[in-house]
Amino acid sequence: MTRSLLLIGFALAACGPLSEKPLGAGLPKNFLLGAASAPHQIEGGLHNDWSRWEEGSFPDGSPHIRDGSRSAQSARSWELWPQDIAALEELGANSYRLGIEWSRLEPAPGVWNVEAAARYREMLIALRAKGIEPVVTVSHFTLPTWFADQGGWESEEALERFAAHCRRVGLAFGDLVDIWVTLNEPNVYALFSYATGQWPPGVQDMKRATRVYATLLHAHAVAAAALRETDLFDANGDGHATFIGLAHHVSLIQPASSSPLDTAVAAATDDYANESVPRAALTGRVTLRVPGVIEIDEAVPGLKGSFDFLGLNFYYRLHVRADFSSMSLSKLYVPEGHQVSDLGGEVYGDGLYRVLKRYGGYPWPILLTENGIADATDKQRPKFLQDNLRGIERAVAEGVNVGGYFYWSLTDNFEWAEGYGGKFGLYAIDFSEPRRARVARPSSQVFRDAALSANATK
Ligand code: FCB
Repeated sequence: MTRSLLLIGFALAACGPLSEKPLGAGLPKNFLLGAASAPHQIEGGLHNDWSRWEEGSFPDGSPHIRDGSRSAQSARSWELWPQDIAALEELGANSYRLGIEWSRLEPAPGVWNVEAAARYREMLIALRAKGIEPVVTVSHFTLPTWFADQGGWESEEALERFAAHCRRVGLAFGDLVDIWVTLNEPNVYALFSYATGQWPPGVQDMKRATRVYATLLHAHAVAAAALRETDLFDANGDGHATFIGLAHHVSLIQPASSSPLDTAVAAATDDYANESVPRAALTGRVTLRVPGVIEIDEAVPGLKGSFDFLGLNFYYRLHVRADFSSMSLSKLYVPEGHQVSDLGGEVYGDGLYRVLKRYGGYPWPILLTENGIADATDKQRPKFLQDNLRGIERAVAEGVNVGGYFYWSLTDNFEWAEGYGGKFGLYAIDFSEPRRARVARPSSQVFRDAALSANATK
């Protein structure tokens, strides 16, 4: 009796509970492990709706960018991209999510910038040569000024313009790229650009925000069709020329109390912000509801079947209480005493695991297209990485299909309205220093070790 118990004990110890395996060893075969970036945040030298917005201020006189900075030269990745690739290699990353800037590639309607396309090709070829699979975002918030001036996503021509751009993109890069992210975070874009007005074009109108949110799902559908039509080349030899999704921002939403009002408002917020996107891709219908403001329930041609993967950007948990003085009827907050990042988002160790369990029920593999922490002192990041990578391993062990993880971000960069205030990088950059040297933060060692263990077990 005692002996058999002992044997069972030994057997369990030999298999080893997940937490005793080195971090990374529990990630599945062919897992994409890398970092993410976006053109406007790292390249420098861009002229788009954002660079224009950065010059301005709000009616109360405060600058559009909190610290008064400009994206300007940013991390200078347009020239220094080989250093970014060197950093990825140093990390042991086998994948990189990067964007190709629409305003660069199509500086005027229908005009294709051959030199810019050639530079992106150079980057993509260099990545492939190092065995780093590119995951390419076609549109990450920024718009060419001509597109913005025509009404941006509210223009009647928006979808055709974007589809035409995507066809050019598919033709120009399809031989080097298989994994495409059509759009970044439709919900976040709609919220900041059209509801709170903190981002260009600075509109504060929940109705228009919701319409734009829906339009972006139409835009995804036409982009997916355009890429499938033009990218016929299987660049990584896995039998598929394209593998398409969008990067959907999800947060965990916690009602402030169990009162029926808080619970109902939290459920409505959750549905609008989180669930509506995968549901729309599953059913082909977008359903968005802001009580008393707008209700959208419409079919989106081509949306059903447009996801090959579910891209999720996850950062924090939000607590929600009913607040009828606000446009969204809710107030989002972090309770006193909870651990927060430098930008005030709640750091919640179990969060990623819970997100994976929740979205694992959809019929697509999940790519974690972004997950990161603003942490200038690098005190929180090591545990953040450990918790989140462990969360993935746990979800995978429980059967969730997770195909990749991209830490946000490879380097420090221009964090939109926060300017240079949010330090997300595995590599620090001093933006007052002209060389923009990429300096590994100590926490990058956690990533490196995990990448080594992930590769060792394959
Ligand atoms: C996400 C954005 C990304 C970056 C991170 C911190 O919402 O997609 O560009 O700003 O937040």
